[in-house]
Amino acid sequence: MSEAKKDNEKPQKLTKKSILKLRGIFHYLKPYGFMYFIGWVFLVLSTSAGLVFPYLMGKLLGTTVNASTPAASTDFLNLGNVTNVALALFVLFGIQALFSFFRVVIFNNVTENSLRDLRNDAFSKMVFMPLDFFNTNKVGELTSRVSSDITQIQETLRTTIAEFFRQIVIIVGGIAFLIFISWKLALIMLATVPVMALIAVFFGRYIRRLSKEAQNFSAHSNAIVEEALSGIANVKAFTNEHFNINRFRKNTQELRDLNVRSGVWRGLFVSFIIFCLFGAIVFIVWQGLLMTQGANPELSKEGFYQFVLFTIMMGASVGSLPDLYANIQKAIGATENLMEIINGKSELELHVGTQKNEILGQIEFQDVRFAYPQRKDMDVLNSISFKIERNQTLAIVGASGAGKTTITNLLLGFYQADNGKVLIDGVSVSDYDLNYLRENLAIVPQDVLLFSGSILENIRFGLTDATDEQVIVAAKQANAWEFIDSFPEGLQTEVGDRGIQLSGGQKQRIAIARALLKNPCILILDEATSALDSESERLVQDALSNLMKDRTSLVIAHRLSTIRKADKILVMKDGRIEEAGNHQELMELKGNYANLVSLQLLDN
Ligand SMILES: Nc1ncnc2c1ncn2[C@@H]1O[C@H](COP(=O)(O)OP(=O)(O)O)[C@@H](O)[C@H]1O
Ligand SMILES: [Mg+2]
Repeated sequence: MSEAKKDNEKPQKLTKKSILKLRGIFHYLKPYGFMYFIGWVFLVLSTSAGLVFPYLMGKLLGTTVNASTPAASTDFLNLGNVTNVALALFVLFGIQALFSFFRVVIFNNVTENSLRDLRNDAFSKMVFMPLDFFNTNKVGELTSRVSSDITQIQETLRTTIAEFFRQIVIIVGGIAFLIFISWKLALIMLATVPVMALIAVFFGRYIRRLSKEAQNFSAHSNAIVEEALSGIANVKAFTNEHFNINRFRKNTQELRDLNVRSGVWRGLFVSFIIFCLFGAIVFIVWQGLLMTQGANPELSKEGFYQFVLFTIMMGASVGSLPDLYANIQKAIGATENLMEIINGKSELELHVGTQKNEILGQIEFQDVRFAYPQRKDMDVLNSISFKIERNQTLAIVGASGAGKTTITNLLLGFYQADNGKVLIDGVSVSDYDLNYLRENLAIVPQDVLLFSGSILENIRFGLTDATDEQVIVAAKQANAWEFIDSFPEGLQTEVGDRGIQLSGGQKQRIAIARALLKNPCILILDEATSALDSESERLVQDALSNLMKDRTSLVIAHRLSTIRKADKILVMKDGRIEEAGNHQELMELKGNYANLVSLQLLDN
């Protein structure tokens, strides 16, 4: 991902290759291809109609002097008459208005349809990404990047491509008309345009670079906000408010400076375009008027007006090109970003296993070595071997950072062991169908995340087609029914961001109900009780005992009462197993475990 980000900072030239990168988007337009085609028909029609405007308008202005002259025989309509020309103009505007309306509406419809599909695909893809993807991409930056990429593509599909086409047609058509009216004057005019264009390109490039930088800054500041607000309790607890505010201030100041600087350049750019444009127009008006003088003028009055109007229109078109061009470039960058996500390998694609053998719950690690993909040089697990039988309980103790959670991550198939084997019922975790594997596992973590929605929905998360009765039974077994029932809205009580705030113990019991409902044969409790006060801990502990009945449990804990009952205890330190055995055996060993117990470092 970071590689691609760097790539996008380089301006993308509109070469055949870079336009091909938009293919990803064309894929989303395809289902609406016919409608899109109709939109293009209207675009071509309205653009052509636009070209007739300076022609007729020039005629109108040029004929005012001799309104009574009969029409010249060369006119295809009787356009020698002022009223007729004016009427023709009204008809033209009417037609153009109609065509433009359909063009705008149709392009908009197609765009919104395609973007809906694109949004859905991007989200589905992200949800299915391996955990590692989220280690390398900050969630805040990811969401703001994706949403700004989509806005960029929306803008481009909806208007930029059509505008770009329109302006090109106006320029090409305009040049043809101009040469037709007076090739001499056309040459004079064209001699001024390329100079303007060159300087405009130079300007445009610089401005684009600045705005790209600004985009990155604003993504970064979004990340700061997201981080601070989602961890607000921590921020406050560490009286870290000012630190965060300063961090944000520094960032917004830099963003402001950057945007102010780019504003100055933008201003210069606009002034430059205006000055050169008007300068060029005055120059051409002057030259053109000279040509209309004399007894046998090179240029008719009508032709002169048409020329001036075409030139103004073309000038405006040329002036708008750099922005449109830049927009298309940005859309290419945005497409690339999104396509990288959409074409990225999801977990399911990366995972080859397909086994769906019945899982009974025997777990074995054979000489497992593992390092996280971002820190390949640091082994987090080293020659880990252990085995637990079906329905047994394994307790893992050890200091924070010892690698306890990592063991569960391997079991859940979040990551693959670099060496050795992780086996469930003798089958390697990577050989199981990933969904099937996870359906047979449940985890109750330390920090339970409740999704916005009702308590019912949150418990049903464990088994989406569970009946209300099943949910209630699970809630009762989880010691959660009492507090749920005490809410006026019961199971329908809203929780999460916009709902009521539950205590740690209550959330924990909802998570337990969730796990009970799922009824897995392997249960993982990762410090499930470590954040609780003793009152809710007792309730949670009871609920956990219910949950652990008749299944294999892997318990990461520091409560002696839980650990003592375990069939096997692993004492971990720095990714290695220091001691293994049951409570009795480890006490007799008089090693680290016995030491922890005697120092009462394990809670009672
Ligand atoms: N996603 C990750 N990427 C890189 N290193 C990680 C990641 N998660 C954990 N670690 C590192 O792995 C080590 C073990 O972590 P963990 O298994 O979470 O420890 P425990 O659960 O025992 O506290 C720690 O040093 C931690 O910094
Ligand atoms: Mg942990």
